[in-house]
Amino acid sequence: MSVSQSAVHLVNHLDPDYLRQALEHDVRTGLASAPKWLPPKWFYDAAGSELFSQITRLPEYYPTRRELAILRREAVDIAARSGADTLVELGSGTSEKTVLLLDALSVTGTLRTYTPVDVDAVTLGDAAQRLTVRYPDLTVRAVCADFERHLALLPRRGRRMVAFLGGTIGNLDPAAREVFLKELRATLRPGDTFLLGADLVKDTGRLVAAYDDAAGVTAAFNRNVLRVVNRELDADFEPDAFEHVAIYDLRSDWIEMRLRATRAMDVRVDGLGLTVSFADGEEMRTEISAKFRPEGLRRELTAAGFTVLHHYTDPTEDFSLVLAGV
Ligand SMILES: C[S@@+](CC[C@H](N)C(=O)[O-])C[C@H]1O[C@@H](n2cnc3c(N)ncnc32)[C@H](O)[C@@H]1O
Repeated sequence: MSVSQSAVHLVNHLDPDYLRQALEHDVRTGLASAPKWLPPKWFYDAAGSELFSQITRLPEYYPTRRELAILRREAVDIAARSGADTLVELGSGTSEKTVLLLDALSVTGTLRTYTPVDVDAVTLGDAAQRLTVRYPDLTVRAVCADFERHLALLPRRGRRMVAFLGGTIGNLDPAAREVFLKELRATLRPGDTFLLGADLVKDTGRLVAAYDDAAGVTAAFNRNVLRVVNRELDADFEPDAFEHVAIYDLRSDWIEMRLRATRAMDVRVDGLGLTVSFADGEEMRTEISAKFRPEGLRRELTAAGFTVLHHYTDPTEDFSLVLAGV
């Protein structure tokens, strides 16, 4: 399906049937597993995206500020090295940081097209609209799609830089990352580049605080997945009966967000004809957020067929941006 909202062109690969089937599959599989889990992409309806925006401004949540600091300092260098005329951004959300890349690509004089890609059509459309006003000469082709399924369908015109910011790569487990990186690599041609934002391993206390803020915004974001399942699959989760949990798994080097049942309960998911039992204290995994070491990032990128061109970090070495070629 393809819709033009004034100057914004939006292609939607996530029609309601597709979304419904994908959610049904994930909820049926995740709630039947031991331990239970739900994939993080379902956090992001319009309310979830707004909560994520609030998270990025929390004092505990350093990744956005660190990535912004790197982009402020290095965006012109990144733009010049990439020589891109087309910026494709996976998991673009509100595209707030992207303006630094768009400005830099405008300065180097090459920019023609921006393709934001996200599962949340509302946030995607709003961001595309805003950017069309801010950059009247830019062609904005928004694509509502799942970057784990639809990479092969993304537009391939121009000399592209594919940006994947915010540490979202860390939401994929190592096996899914390997598949994702290989699939992305297969869509790129010589001259295209990949800009990857990844959060680095650091002090456990700071990591946990970033996912368990004092104001409870991350807790509300975590519970939002239950609201999405209630609305879309006619379930009766009581979000307030689940506690937000964030732990750092030192063996895997990732944060795990979980929802812990505060009492034994049965939850009906009428849309799937399911009743799911939770024991008192049972935990359901809702997100992993892997943390990386520079050598590990290089290894994973190289194994997928990329060549690391430049590694950028902030002065505290909290966050990393890697520019890779093919
Ligand atoms: C952690 S947020 C990062 C947002 C933004 N890039 C940033 O750096 O602030 C993850 C974004 O990826 C989107 N997303 C999550 N899973 C996705 C998927 N499988 N396909 C496409 N977008 C996805 C979410 O809707 C959200 O906008």
